[in-house]
Amino acid sequence: MKVIEIEGGRKLSGSIRVSGSKNATLALIPAAILTDEEATICNIPEITDTDALCDILADLNVKVNRSTESMVINPKDMKNVVIAEEHSNKLRASYYFMGALLGRYNKAEMYFPGGCSIGARPIDQHLKGFEALGAKITNEGNKYILEAKELKGANIYLDVVSVGATINIILAAVRAKGITTIENAAKEPEIVCVSTFLNNMGAKITGAGTSTIKIEGVDHLHKCFYEVVPDRIEAATYIVIGALCGDNLKVDNVIPEHIDAMLSKLEEVGVETEVGVDYVTVLNTNKELKGTKIKTAVYPGFVTDMQQPFTVLLTQVNGKSTVTETIFENRFKHVQYLNALGANITVENQTATIIGPTKLKGTEVAATDLRAGAAMVAAGLIAEGKTTITNAEHILRGYEQIVEKLTSVGAKIKILEV
Ligand code: EPZ
Repeated sequence: MKVIEIEGGRKLSGSIRVSGSKNATLALIPAAILTDEEATICNIPEITDTDALCDILADLNVKVNRSTESMVINPKDMKNVVIAEEHSNKLRASYYFMGALLGRYNKAEMYFPGGCSIGARPIDQHLKGFEALGAKITNEGNKYILEAKELKGANIYLDVVSVGATINIILAAVRAKGITTIENAAKEPEIVCVSTFLNNMGAKITGAGTSTIKIEGVDHLHKCFYEVVPDRIEAATYIVIGALCGDNLKVDNVIPEHIDAMLSKLEEVGVETEVGVDYVTVLNTNKELKGTKIKTAVYPGFVTDMQQPFTVLLTQVNGKSTVTETIFENRFKHVQYLNALGANITVENQTATIIGPTKLKGTEVAATDLRAGAAMVAAGLIAEGKTTITNAEHILRGYEQIVEKLTSVGAKIKILEV
């Protein structure tokens, strides 16, 4: 097991460069098998989730040529075989291969993990979209078989605003016959990324980023090139760390519009930032910080992935704050560990109430999921003494070189194999 050890209490200064978006990358790699030629993607984060998807490409005999933060994917000789269960159940985003294989072969057969630690995370909306396009779906345990004589465009209304379902339906529809409309679609930047990537291949997708997306099916998708946008959650995480223990910490390679809601919450709390075209510097104003109310929402609202790291900041402000989680039903597992460090947080139904400020003291904690792990890192950086974070594999799934990046700005942090 990997463990991260942090000696807290140090001021971080200098700049951290944000890597390519994990959540965009996890959709782009499966989308790349829809072309008949090769797809070149650069600015891919070197994280374990990327590696896991490359294992799946290998199962499908897709040629992958990886170099630093870029990948050339060539599906010319691919085989539509059942993806090995130990590969597909490593991450939920493997479900994008359902839409991609269905979209390319009218058939997909794969194992799929159930919920994970932040909630049940059903895929009913994905399956509803595939059926609307003409797929017949059977499942044997957690193995899904999707088959269609022909995929035909359809009007699909999502009962739940779902990033995954929106993207998966686009993947299945780009080569379907006719026009598909997705109503009540998710509007996250990752959807714009995947649609731009596919349009670069010759797809005809309009409306990405709005709640109505139209896809006109095409027969052929050709080679393309695409650069992954910066990771908005990684950026927001380091900006919050800058607010906690930065000395004018600069976070580089940021699209500020992607984190507007979080930046305005920082302002409400009293954190001052300098927002540039492609960077955010957290200003060291020593202003008194005060509590606020946060309610997670779909984009462009306050993103659910940031409620856990942001809660660490709320343990340090004066007064009461609340964080209400509206997207996932089980995303407060970080609270018990923040309280073990000395925070004062109670959770009732889907709302955490935080009383600050509280002095945090290092101890052993666990990363229960990716963003809870990020919260543990943020807390460890300000806690007195040593904080040990177990199950640190969760953190390495989504934060490229997090130990190196934090060390470069003055943190005392290391990763051990125990
Ligand atoms: C994506 O997950 C992200 N993951 C998540 O980031 C992110 O938290 C989430 O979107 C919300 O923004 C990737 O992009 C790989 P959803 P996804 O479908 O697509 C329910 C991280 O930390 N729902 O938008 O799985 C679902 O249970 C990860 O990087 C259904 O009910 O999320 C949830 O309550 C965590 N039926 C809500 O919708 C469905 O068919 C939103 O889920 C699909 C979803």
